[in-house]
Amino acid sequence: MASLTEEIKRRRTFAIISHPDAGKTTLTEKLLLYGGAIHIAGAVKSNKIKKTATSDWMEIEKQRGISVATSVMGFNYGDYKINILDTPGHQDFAEDTYRTLTAVDSVIIVVDVAKGVEQQTRKLMEVCRMRNTPVIIFVNKLDREGRDPFEILDELESELKIDVRPLSWPINIGAKFKGVYNIYENTLDLFTPDKQKVTNRVEIDNVNDSRIDDAVGETDAAKLREDLELIEGVYPEFDRDKYLAGKVAPVFFGSALNTFGVKELLDCFVKIAPSPKPIDTEERTVNPEESGFSGFVFKIHANMDPNHRSCIAFVKICSGRFERNAPYRHIRSGKVMKFAAPTAFMAQKKDIVDEAFPGDIVGIPDTGNFKIGDTLTSGEELHFKGLPSFSPEMFKYIENTDPMKSKQLEKGIQQLMDEGVAQLFTNQFNGRKIIGTVGQLQFEVIQYRLLHEYGAKCRWEPISLYKACWIESDDAEALDAFKRRKHQFMATDRQGRDVFLADSSYVLQMAQNDFPKIKFHFSSEF
Ligand code: G4P
Repeated sequence: MASLTEEIKRRRTFAIISHPDAGKTTLTEKLLLYGGAIHIAGAVKSNKIKKTATSDWMEIEKQRGISVATSVMGFNYGDYKINILDTPGHQDFAEDTYRTLTAVDSVIIVVDVAKGVEQQTRKLMEVCRMRNTPVIIFVNKLDREGRDPFEILDELESELKIDVRPLSWPINIGAKFKGVYNIYENTLDLFTPDKQKVTNRVEIDNVNDSRIDDAVGETDAAKLREDLELIEGVYPEFDRDKYLAGKVAPVFFGSALNTFGVKELLDCFVKIAPSPKPIDTEERTVNPEESGFSGFVFKIHANMDPNHRSCIAFVKICSGRFERNAPYRHIRSGKVMKFAAPTAFMAQKKDIVDEAFPGDIVGIPDTGNFKIGDTLTSGEELHFKGLPSFSPEMFKYIENTDPMKSKQLEKGIQQLMDEGVAQLFTNQFNGRKIIGTVGQLQFEVIQYRLLHEYGAKCRWEPISLYKACWIESDDAEALDAFKRRKHQFMATDRQGRDVFLADSSYVLQMAQNDFPKIKFHFSSEF
């Protein structure tokens, strides 16, 4: 039996992120093909939330239902155990994606060669930067006309605010695309547009090998040498430690749809990407190799069937060996629990597992015991840090429309917030409850679920807010003065912390100018 250390070393847990349409689903699918986890292309598509379904959230929820099995895709690749954590493509579920990023050890960012860095990518990169998550970039769709690769590299650096280092280089793009030179391995792969077929490799010794000229023609071979010389002159040598520290992002080029450049990406990824790292808790740093088990809940997936109000809590294992039916302590409640049917996700099938290791995700069937961020351990009192909430983008007052059901409404709201569907603030001036979300869809989801799962009716009332920000100060008097001045706009979050509700960016800016002793935070973790 492999030791705990060996199991940890061979694990690679990561997420693929992108702006919708850049090719995340296609790349995921191709990686699964290499892992033998699926046999036909097109199998992951059902998991995708179609952006054409304009706000048809029932359809989206149905698709999310299907996606439980593909939320985590585990497979073996050579000696490695790979766990890909899926993230919803629809931007109204961005908060889910942020949380998933707390459970991965690295990410692959997919960028469309024609579109470059897009808005969603920029936002997700901010979260990676906050956590120093190692990032690899895959520039996709080289088979289509696009931008100059050097221009793309410059844009990646300036827009994503990270140094880049190409580890592969394309020979032309679009109709003239001939292939990719792998700088990391010094190999040349020729492009044959074929969705199922794998790369055609040319044996070469180095970049000056004349076999390159034979394969791509003298002109393109000369251009390639020129480009590579420029790259070596401009970009420092790839430094794995810098990558692991989140300071430099290696860049690969290819075409996911044509399964081109994907294997090179995967082969390099397993070599350089980190295995599970030590994680900070409020009490101390937890090392994955410790014998005591610990893990945290980063996602709760509710069952949309009102007759079975059950959920699956997704637990990221941080240390030790997780065993089925072993007694574990749920730190928030202090209860000892045993899990008879934990599931793991291998080759797109959900199976009951007897054990799992750091880096793995287990799904635990739950009937409302778990909250996002909860910690489970062999017994030690630990609280994992790092599940921030971001200031929502949309706000509405929630009002009860059936006075006989106020208890149900209250319970429903609390449980939905525990699942992380949205954020709840209580206005300290009028006592009214405000729900904050990142997208319009969540309001529909909440209203529907309150009715169907809790029998509670609600309606939304508009409130015009720009941002909610958490405030604090070392100066108690300044804090008091601020709260008095802004008393109509003060709220508390569920932990009772002070939140300032700014109704415009101008008001926020003025507040920041007028009250220099107050710190304004736009995420709940500070
Ligand atoms: P997403 O998950 O990031 O949203 O993107 P997805 O993989 O669904 O890809 C978006 C579209 O881009 C898809 O086309 C997909 O086939 C296409 N695509 C992905 N990789 C490549 C590539 O390397 N080259 C080219 N030319 N196209 C690529 P679609 O028409 O929206 O979907 P479908 O009808 O093909 O499924």
